Amino acid sequence: MPKIYIKTFGCQMNDRDSEALLGLFLDKGYGVAESAQEADLVLVNTCSVRAHAEDRARSYLGSLRKKGTVPIRGQSPIVGLIGCMAANRGEELFGRMPHIDLICGPASFAKIPGYVERIVNEKRETKGEGRNRRIIDINDGERQENLYQSSFRADSDKAQVIISTGCSNFCSYCVVPYVRGKLRLRKPLDIIDEVKKNISSGIKKITLLGQNVNDYRYKLQAVKSQVTSGKRDTPINFVMLLQMVLGIEGLEELDFITSQPKNTSKELFTLIEKSPKIRKRLHLPFQSGSNRILKLMNRGYTKEKYLQLVKDYKKIVGGTISTDVIVGFPTESDEDFNQTKDIIEKVKFSHAFIFKYSPRSTAKSFELADDVSADIKIKRHKILLDLQKKISLGK
Ligand code: 5AD
Ligand code: SF4
Repeated sequence: MPKIYIKTFGCQMNDRDSEALLGLFLDKGYGVAESAQEADLVLVNTCSVRAHAEDRARSYLGSLRKKGTVPIRGQSPIVGLIGCMAANRGEELFGRMPHIDLICGPASFAKIPGYVERIVNEKRETKGEGRNRRIIDINDGERQENLYQSSFRADSDKAQVIISTGCSNFCSYCVVPYVRGKLRLRKPLDIIDEVKKNISSGIKKITLLGQNVNDYRYKLQAVKSQVTSGKRDTPINFVMLLQMVLGIEGLEELDFITSQPKNTSKELFTLIEKSPKIRKRLHLPFQSGSNRILKLMNRGYTKEKYLQLVKDYKKIVGGTISTDVIVGFPTESDEDFNQTKDIIEKVKFSHAFIFKYSPRSTAKSFELADDVSADIKIKRHKILLDLQKKISLGK
């Protein structure tokens, strides 16, 4: 039985993508290898959001090349670089890393088992001597639904379900719209079916995943829905989708990530409040507290609007809030940074994920000089980490 090992870098979306892929291979008769050393197929699912994530994946890929690191049961394994970095740097790495057999971007994940089969057949024909067949697919496009068809789940009590891929918001620092493509929505009925499948296999806690769940807006064509009372032209928005999922029998707990503040609504808060099954925690990244920087980031809200949203949430729901913050965005002054600090002091997040700005060559902010020095980024990063630590400890 051939064995597969998937190494995953990055976010929850990548975790779910890797799980879905693993399921497809298990259904094809593969076994799970405990390490790359034992595997016949190693897939490295990558992240491009910050340079650091790419550096880690690159060095991991390099380590697979070192002689003796992967002495796969007599012959070298098939190595695939997949995910965001494949889309971002695939062509460059294909040339520079000849031990990579397959490069595949996020849009084509459902095709990976077929690509691997082609590579295996070719190897068999050349008796494992040759590495003739190398495949690169970094096309953008809609994902095939069959990526999600396997019932394999890593956890026995909770599961993630993707509601959309890509993003069309173009926050100026962000590489996502370029590597995962424009926003594409899964059909409401496909989402519902996947949730139902989980519930019938005993998994009753569901997290819905999208880069910005509030962007969900599915225009109904042929599908009638209870939520829209059969009106065909009313798009299903995220709040309606949540209501549809809440209506599924057997569901115990519902959660979602991520909410972009610019289109997070009071209507959403009201639904969270009145639904005992929705967890009372919200991930609401604010990125910066300076209105000038928020504008440069193309975030679509101000510090005041963000704080008002938090106030509404606390009043209506009363749950916890977590956030993401970037320090050292181009031109960020001490005064801009103090505005960011002010939000952290005022809101009292349960968690704050704090990042140092990392210029991404395809993103719009790359045009701006990365003019906040590494030392200042480190200093500001530490100030916020220490502050949040105190808040988390309730001091
Ligand atoms: N530099 C630093 N942090 C970034 N993020 C996204 N792009 C960048 C970048 N270029 C952070 C944001 C986002 C989180 C997932 O990663 O805070 O919310
Ligand atoms: Fe990136 Fe902004 Fe889309 Fe989030 S909402 S994925 S930060 S472009």
